Amino acid sequence: MRPTVIILAAGLGTRMRSALPKALHLLAGKELIRYVLDAVKPLGPGKTAVVLGHQADRVREAMDGYAVEIVHQAEQLGTGHAVRQAVDIIAAAEGPVVVLCADTPLLTPGTLISLIEAHSRAKAAVTVMTAMAEDPAGYGRVVRGRSGVMRIVEEKDATAAQKKIREVNAGIYCFEKKFLLSALGGIRNRNAQGEYYLPDTIALARKKKLKVAAVLCTDPDEAMGINSRFDLSQAEMVLQARTNLRWMLEGVTLPDPATVFIGADVVIGRDSIVYPNVRLEGNTTLGEGCSVYPGSRIVDSALGSGVVIKDCCVIEDSRIEDRASVGPFAHLRPGTVLGAGSRVGNFVEVKKSVIGEGSKANHLAYLGDATIGRNVNIGAGVITCNYDGYQKHQTVIEDGVFVGSDAQLVAPVRIGRDALVAAGTTVTRDVPAEAMVISRVPQEVREGVAGRRKRMKQKKGTR
Ligand code: UD1
Ligand code: CA
Repeated sequence: MRPTVIILAAGLGTRMRSALPKALHLLAGKELIRYVLDAVKPLGPGKTAVVLGHQADRVREAMDGYAVEIVHQAEQLGTGHAVRQAVDIIAAAEGPVVVLCADTPLLTPGTLISLIEAHSRAKAAVTVMTAMAEDPAGYGRVVRGRSGVMRIVEEKDATAAQKKIREVNAGIYCFEKKFLLSALGGIRNRNAQGEYYLPDTIALARKKKLKVAAVLCTDPDEAMGINSRFDLSQAEMVLQARTNLRWMLEGVTLPDPATVFIGADVVIGRDSIVYPNVRLEGNTTLGEGCSVYPGSRIVDSALGSGVVIKDCCVIEDSRIEDRASVGPFAHLRPGTVLGAGSRVGNFVEVKKSVIGEGSKANHLAYLGDATIGRNVNIGAGVITCNYDGYQKHQTVIEDGVFVGSDAQLVAPVRIGRDALVAAGTTVTRDVPAEAMVISRVPQEVREGVAGRRKRMKQKKGTR
């Protein structure tokens, strides 16, 4: 029978000390709540309800594309109270009811499935997932008796002896529907926090002589709850290690994986090599045999195969075709397209521009709002003057053009195919194909001037 899933996400997450609700904090660039939603999906739930409170609209936005039903908890009176808001959904459930929190992003579908299986095998009223924590601080402690789990004691209500218990409540439960409905009415808030605790359902089941089961999560990381920024950093490390291991097994070389960040949605082709201190973020894809050298950050960009990104580049929202090479120290801003085999070198900034196949801009250039054809050479220090203080204008450079060093191309302007722009030229009007354009003060040579000056200085004793 299909489980019904309830995800608790109404809390603000006070310990995060943030204006952002906890469910929206990012782990590997992805919202916490989306991890839980993705872990739940393979269960094929009959219904997934999400309990929202703080900034519900923003959390709802992040869940765009997921089939969920929203339940409101106007006041955050505890996890038991939160589940009570979904009472209609629970009453309509046909199978077991799985309750979990939005702040356990490392949970895997397999672990959830084993929880549900253990629950139905045991025919329990409630099955709770537990974990052996190295440091149990902050978690509810699992109090066991001779016949298994008796109850869960929250940190703030625990005695010194109970605080020493290392087995903790992961905050993930599977309930028999009828029991859950009755237990929700039985929870009281007489405790240190004055809250209705969902874990109190365990003691209630015991009181009614109903069966309580527990599943120990073999990987304690999966049970990790994110309450603080420190927890977030720990989860980030675990996730990074998981992601990087996955890519290494897929055939990607990471000489120093601990320093490489690969976002949750990134895809990398085999035989690519990602050197230390690289960040691949958002919807970035790398083809096969790419190299990304140290210190580069690539965001929402698509790289073909055999692309080389040399050290310390920033690449955003760009497309780089096969065998192109970028950097070191280049900045590709949104809307950049680099054709196959093209090269963008040191200290070159490109924005909203297309650079055709085989073209090169190897040193110190700004190319903005430009369409550049094939086999164009952009010399050192070339600038497209695309902005007149009010509007942006286009520069078109056709195939085979040679733009000499230190030229300024004042847009809007078009340079026809195979034209030659002499070094130092300021181009203000269109240049026809195959023409040469030059705008320079004619050179003047004054014989002997420098020599005379030098000899005069030597006589005065100043060199
Ligand atoms: C909870 C458990 C604790 C367990 C830990 C595991 C309780 C009382 N304690 O503690 O035993 O070890 O999780 O991570 O359940 N929420 C609501 N409405 C509320 C209160 C909370 O929706 O009124 C949501 C939060 O948004 C969060 C989840 O419930 O997603 C858990 O709340 P949190 O405050 O993080 O509980 P913990 O103190 O971590
Ligand atoms: Ca928590």
